[in-house]
Amino acid sequence: MSRLDSAIRRLTAQKLTLEHAARLISDLPGPAIELGLGNGRTYDHLRSLLPSRDIYIFDRQVAAHPDCIPDEAHLFLGDFSDTLPTANARICAPVAFAHLDIGTGEKQASMALASAIAPLVAPLLADGAIVVSDQPLEGEPWKPEPLPDGIAEGRIHLYRKSAQEPSATAL
Ligand SMILES: C[S@@+](CC[C@H](N)C(=O)[O-])C[C@H]1O[C@@H](n2cnc3c(N)ncnc32)[C@H](O)[C@@H]1O
Repeated sequence: MSRLDSAIRRLTAQKLTLEHAARLISDLPGPAIELGLGNGRTYDHLRSLLPSRDIYIFDRQVAAHPDCIPDEAHLFLGDFSDTLPTANARICAPVAFAHLDIGTGEKQASMALASAIAPLVAPLLADGAIVVSDQPLEGEPWKPEPLPDGIAEGRIHLYRKSAQEPSATAL
């Protein structure tokens, strides 16, 4: 497969999975978050898919197309490890949908970043929230969901945040 074919397949999988995720959360209220503004391609698509939801964006820099830059109230600028831990003070409601698009092109580093930030993302999410991720997420509370028809396993990842069991000490 040529690199062009591979890029087209990756972007098609991303687009179809974001559209599928938007349908999956149709009955779940709450805002959306995206980690990785990049040039704003997926943020722009999310705006069209989720016109009535607040969408909060996280990135260490703004390098997006001028039409695809969120306003200051919806932008968390800085390293994920600095902005995620206190984000709920501004987001104020459990998040229904998260898009993690954080890949750097270096597989091991991207997977390590996903492992590091997943525990910071989870507390922001509502039980039952849907996550589309360019990297695999391991363990609790990430329950894999079937991908849309025709999308090959591993090309993109889809999860639902499972409800946390009450801990023994809380009973
Ligand atoms: C693959 S790009 C996002 C592409 C974007 N979703 C689009 O469609 O144009 C990944 C983005 O994650 C950001 N990023 C990577 N690691 C980060 C970190 N530790 N903290 C904050 N931003 C980070 C990069 O600056 C980059 O803009």
